[in-house]
Amino acid sequence: MTDTVYVLNGPNLNLLGLREPAIYGSTTLDEIAGMLEDRGRELGLAIDMRQTNYEGMLIDWMHEAQAEGAKAVLINAGAYTHTSIALLDAARAIATPVIEVHLSNPKERESFRHTSYIGEAAAATFEGHGADSYRLALEHVAATFA
Ligand code: DQA
Repeated sequence: MTDTVYVLNGPNLNLLGLREPAIYGSTTLDEIAGMLEDRGRELGLAIDMRQTNYEGMLIDWMHEAQAEGAKAVLINAGAYTHTSIALLDAARAIATPVIEVHLSNPKERESFRHTSYIGEAAAATFEGHGADSYRLALEHVAATFA
């Protein structure tokens, strides 16, 4: 059976393409999903792409990723990155590898974006490459986790 990678997207990422394009680019989340599905096909990985504006939903999906035997979780937690100890705990609670993704590089932005709670539990972080951050994270999963 094809290994599945969960790609979880948090608050406001449904507006990608329209939202602050100077920072986040003009690519929509649907376009990123399509790009990941194409690359995943080449790498032998299925993509389960999701977005929610609710913190608890991200936690439920992380638990589900483990229960369903996902190969990895890529997560762009949006602003919850900088606030959510609950997401950090969820990442620590599951054995499934968690990879942190950001379009922008939060560490080069306002100081309130410099802390990443989920980053404390992430196996790797890809940030600052726009939509390519997701592709790089997926390639990392294919190269790293047997
Ligand atoms: C983001 C960076 C976060 O600081 C911000 O709150 C987002 C998007 C990114 O992908 O660059 O919503 O995670």
